[in-house]
Amino acid sequence: MKIHVTETVLRDANQSLIATRMPLKDFEGILDVMDQAGYTSLECWGGATFDSCLRYLDEDPWERLRTIRRHVKNTKLQMLLRGQNILGYKHYPDDIVRRFVRKSVENGIDVIRIFDALNDLRNIEVAVDEAIRAGAQVQGALCYTTSPIHTLDTFVDLGRQLEKMGCHSVCIKDMAGIMTPKVAYDLVSALKQNIRLPIVVHTHCTTGLGPMTLLKAAEAGADTIDCAISCFSGGTSQPPTESLHYALKEMGIDTGLKEPVLKQINDYFKPIHARALDSGLLNPIVMNTETDALVYQIPGGMLSNLVAQLKVQNALDRLPEVLEETPRVREDLGYPPLVTPSSQMVGVQAVANVLAGERYKNVSKEIKAYLRGEYGRAPGAVNEALRKQVLGDEPVIEGRFADTLEPEYEKVRAEIGDLARSEEDVLSYALFPVVAEKFFQNRLEKESHTVTYSIRKA
Ligand code: CO
Repeated sequence: MKIHVTETVLRDANQSLIATRMPLKDFEGILDVMDQAGYTSLECWGGATFDSCLRYLDEDPWERLRTIRRHVKNTKLQMLLRGQNILGYKHYPDDIVRRFVRKSVENGIDVIRIFDALNDLRNIEVAVDEAIRAGAQVQGALCYTTSPIHTLDTFVDLGRQLEKMGCHSVCIKDMAGIMTPKVAYDLVSALKQNIRLPIVVHTHCTTGLGPMTLLKAAEAGADTIDCAISCFSGGTSQPPTESLHYALKEMGIDTGLKEPVLKQINDYFKPIHARALDSGLLNPIVMNTETDALVYQIPGGMLSNLVAQLKVQNALDRLPEVLEETPRVREDLGYPPLVTPSSQMVGVQAVANVLAGERYKNVSKEIKAYLRGEYGRAPGAVNEALRKQVLGDEPVIEGRFADTLEPEYEKVRAEIGDLARSEEDVLSYALFPVVAEKFFQNRLEKESHTVTYSIRKA
């Protein structure tokens, strides 16, 4: 038996452990070696990497992708895309989505994993369509969550729809690390029985279940698992590549990975990990095993956000009430998967409901937008009394929210003017106007310094 491994150290592990702050210069030196390891793909772009490059690292994310591509000639390059949200936090018009997807492929991406936080597949259809046209391998992802309305059948049905949309593989995306080994086994088995596409399993070690979950997924016939090289694994990151490789090998499941190369990669990243720990960039807390997430069925990151919010308001003693209120708010909203941005929405509202002593006395503008249908269709029924209370007679958007948005590319291109030198620049600006403009200004300034310097020298 065979299984493929996707290495996440450059994207998800980097994002989960050190807030996506690994600069290209830290990992450029190992890319040629990583290309020889036998990974099916390197997850190296998308997610928060794009924002982080522009905002914190003074790096052009497109240039980073092209550089990775120059080094990595055999292994597929993979990115994570939030459907209609692209890599940002709001819905973008279709013209921006299509151009972004096309440019990602042109600059070197082979595999695009596409998901929507609510599993509203209308929010990924344009990205999926464009990715297929651009010749990418399209991985449709379903966000795994638990709730009274989320059953095995729910996810199998989503898998079938992804297949119908033309996706080339289906990923079970367990962003909170709450999928148990048994569920992984059952879900992979059910998907294998009902759809013909390769099944990919993505989880996190947050609750300690990660490696067991991947092992059972492999046993059930998963085609690909996501792992992180060991020194960047564990905690809120993925299960360790090498450990899974050795365990699976004994079970007769061949990963195709080369052990000496894995060792070389791990040795390369160890000092980077050590430096991050020394500088405080890596908070040891993220390495904890958070089994409370299993008790409360909410992601570890959301739990620590609730604690932080209550601390600020000097109300940490109200945590038990907030933990009781959280699932009620989620129920009112039709059980959205607890992933960005719904996890923040639900958490903030639960805290507000408890501290105000009255439910929904204050309602955030995000919840309003959610109830208006701006994020898409809720998985379950929304509390209609609440919707009426918040929206009054305002109409609810039943269709796809992006259908209400005008094309934007020409407008943003005119807006940023000469500061943008390519379509890629315009897209950076469309996604993150403030940080991208600042990045372009810096770029210009640095160049003028260089010019002055070389004139003087001459
Ligand atoms: Co993840």
